[in-house]
Amino acid sequence: MDFTDRTALVTGSARGIGLEIARLFYEGGAEVVIVDLTQEGVEAACKEIAGATDDERIAGFTCDVADPDSVWALFRSVKHRFGKLDILVNNAGITRDGLFARMTLESWKKVIDVNLTGTYLCCRQGLALLRKSPAGRIVNVSSISASGNIGQANYSASKAGVVGLTKTLALELARYHLTVNAVAPGFIDTEMTEAVSDEARKFWLDKIPAKRAGTTTDVARAVAFLASGDASYITGEVVEVDGGLHVPKQFPVRTGTEAG
Ligand SMILES: NC(=O)c1ccc[n+]([C@@H]2O[C@H](COP(=O)([O-])OP(=O)(O)OC[C@H]3O[C@@H](n4cnc5c(N)ncnc54)[C@H](O)[C@@H]3O)[C@@H](O)[C@H]2O)c1
Repeated sequence: MDFTDRTALVTGSARGIGLEIARLFYEGGAEVVIVDLTQEGVEAACKEIAGATDDERIAGFTCDVADPDSVWALFRSVKHRFGKLDILVNNAGITRDGLFARMTLESWKKVIDVNLTGTYLCCRQGLALLRKSPAGRIVNVSSISASGNIGQANYSASKAGVVGLTKTLALELARYHLTVNAVAPGFIDTEMTEAVSDEARKFWLDKIPAKRAGTTTDVARAVAFLASGDASYITGEVVEVDGGLHVPKQFPVRTGTEAG
């Protein structure tokens, strides 16, 4: 996909899905802003993508997306370095899983702060630059857990909030030629899912119609499409990237095949 003359910022891009999204933008010719919590993380990502840290087309900034001052400083740095922003991908996210009956207020707030308030803050601070783009794009990373998942009350609520925010911004920002969409990944192989037990992993793989976990590239390609010129009339949409996991339960029918 061609991203020549586009400037793209991806939060949480030191590793995992965010790193792969940033790589696709870079390979498509974009100026790329890597954003993550640590200096080592953003430097390593810039080096991995561009092969050198002095490449003019890539810049790494540390930022905690849950911290309003940090986000304000990030977009000031982006303005100073590139003077514009065309694509914002809100990918930074965390989990703090546990059954609701034992969920602490701290774990609830932490997840909401990073996943939902972090997305709000970046959209809010990025808007001044994005509005000036002739074809601005916001792509938010939600999750199929947005519709509920045992042990993820905090995470599900945060990702459902991201969907509501996405749809509302799509309505409010269309007048600025800005599209706002989301992707909802299913079970994707990253460090986030490495924490899942072998038993839980087997459970999910059995449930996925495609019979495999997703890759970071599977998700990054969907994000890149929504951020591209080809998706200019798509806004307020949530694209599930999950090998069919979200499709409502199917019941066996007598087809003579294994279907169902
Ligand atoms: N892996 C999956 O199966 C899966 C499924 C559905 C949705 N997602 C979502 O995809 C996104 C990326 O997930 P991943 O699997 O690549 O996770 P990951 O843990 O591998 O990477 C997340 C990145 O975000 C960064 N980050 C965390 N908190 C931050 C903060 N406050 N400020 C800035 N950066 C921060 C981390 O340092 C890390 O580099 C997340 O929003 C996640 O919720 C992942």
